[in-house]
This record gives sequence, C-alpha cells and structure tokens, in this order.
Amino acid sequence: MEVIILSDAAQVARVAAAVVAEVAARPNAVLGLATGSSPLGIYRELAAAVERGALDLSTTRGFALDEYVGIPEEHPQSYASVIRGEVIEPLGMDPALVRVPDGRARDIEAACDEYEAAIRAAGGIDLQILGVGANGHIGFNEPTSSFASRTRIKTLAPRTREDNARFFDSVEEVPTHCLTQGLGTIMESRCALLVAQGEAKADAVAAVVEGPVTSVVPGSILQHHRRATIVVDEAAASGLRLADYYRWTYAHKPEWQRVPPLV
Ligand code: F6R
Repeated sequence: MEVIILSDAAQVARVAAAVVAEVAARPNAVLGLATGSSPLGIYRELAAAVERGALDLSTTRGFALDEYVGIPEEHPQSYASVIRGEVIEPLGMDPALVRVPDGRARDIEAACDEYEAAIRAAGGIDLQILGVGANGHIGFNEPTSSFASRTRIKTLAPRTREDNARFFDSVEEVPTHCLTQGLGTIMESRCALLVAQGEAKADAVAAVVEGPVTSVVPGSILQHHRRATIVVDEAAASGLRLADYYRWTYAHKPEWQRVPPLV
C-alpha cells in the first residue's frame, strides 16, 4: 500500500487525476468509478485535461461502484444521473461504454450477476477509484461485509444515510438500500486508488491503512490489495501514526516511479 499525503484537497485531486489518466489513456482501459464528494476533484482535473486536448477518454470503459435502490434513474441523486453529469459528459466518455448497476431491476440478483459478468467480459477493472465512508466502508460495503462479496444488494448503515442526507432534502429521502460492487470485486481490480480529504475522514483513513484487517472496517481489506494507493490531504492523514514515514517515502520516490503530472 502506498500512502501519499499532500497539503490540501486541490493537490489530492491533481496527483490522483494523474494516476487515473496514466491508466485511462491505455487502449481498452477499464475504470471503476466512485461517486460521492471525494472523487469530484479528480473528475474536474480529468475534464480539464480532456478540454485542453491532453487526454482522450472516448474509448475508456467505466463501471460505477454502486447505485441506490428505490429511486428512479432520472432522480438527480441516482448514481446513473451523477455518473452522467459528473463523469460521462465532462470527461467525454461514450455513454455506451459506461455502466451503472441497475438499482431498478425487477430481478436484482440477476442484474448483479450480469454486472459482474460485464466487468469480466471487459477484461476486469484496471483502476478502481474509491472514497471511504466515515465508518470505513468502500463502495457501499458496510461494516461486516464479506471480504469475498460480489456485486449485490446491501442495506445502508444509518451513519451512511445520515452522511449522504446532504445530497437529499432530508435523511428520510435517502434510500435504505443500494447495489454495490463487492469487496471481492474491488480486490480484483489491478490498481485501487482511494482518496480522502478533511478531518472527518481521519479516523477511517487510519483504520483502513494502519488498523487490523477486519470486516468491521471494510476498507482495511485494501491492505491485501496487490496495488493500492491512498492519496489524502493533511487533515485526512491526521490520525496516521506513520505519517512522517509516508511523507519521507513519497519525497524520496525514484523519479522513474513517479506518475507525470497531467499537463
Ligand atoms: C460512492 C461510494 C462511497 C463513498 C463514500 C465517501 O460511490 O462508493 O463509498 O466513496 O461514502 O463518500 P464521500 O466521498 O461523499 O465522502
């Protein structure tokens, strides 16, 4: 696991976007796409690079991490809408190449199995973008999710519904259920890139990076990921015991290992 601590959210967006761009620019690249606030800076940086002609994502495939169950696709907070407005359109992606789990399917289990099959058929996810919930969830894999889990329906934890109430008019409007890629699905991605900003994420980041690997903190499974990069600002890093070591390591990273900035 590589931990990169940067001064602020703007730097997190810049460095993380460069990591995404390096993978996304490869032919037939497949991205896993998180929603929520954490990756928005990444998407803005990528959109700016596309706008100035430095990046072309028109053939990049994408699979959203999750989707609410119980709200229509046209709802502005459905992840289908969010992915369209924050990712597909600004990044110039082809809507036919970007999938979101179908939270409206009549046969939810079949829809989840089909989503897993579509990821496999695309050759698997090259880079999975992740945020982390204050309770340590990744995707909507809430505490005690199985490490072997695949895309499936989950009940959102009360804390997650409260945290996401800011996107709705009230907490009652936040759906109670969702579809999410499983921890097993996320662990099969070739690279995982988790971003977190702000002090409210400090405990979750510390637990994910330095705590015991436990399903009570689902993101802690990333300690077993073959290539996980955690990019955080100083506030989100404030609970890390080994913060000085991560800073030193990043400062001394060999030039050839550094991802070139997006220009
Ligand atoms: C979103 C997702 C969630 C969020 C997490 C953090 O697709 O899967 O795990 O990444 O809840 O949310 P924000 O970024 O809004 O703080």
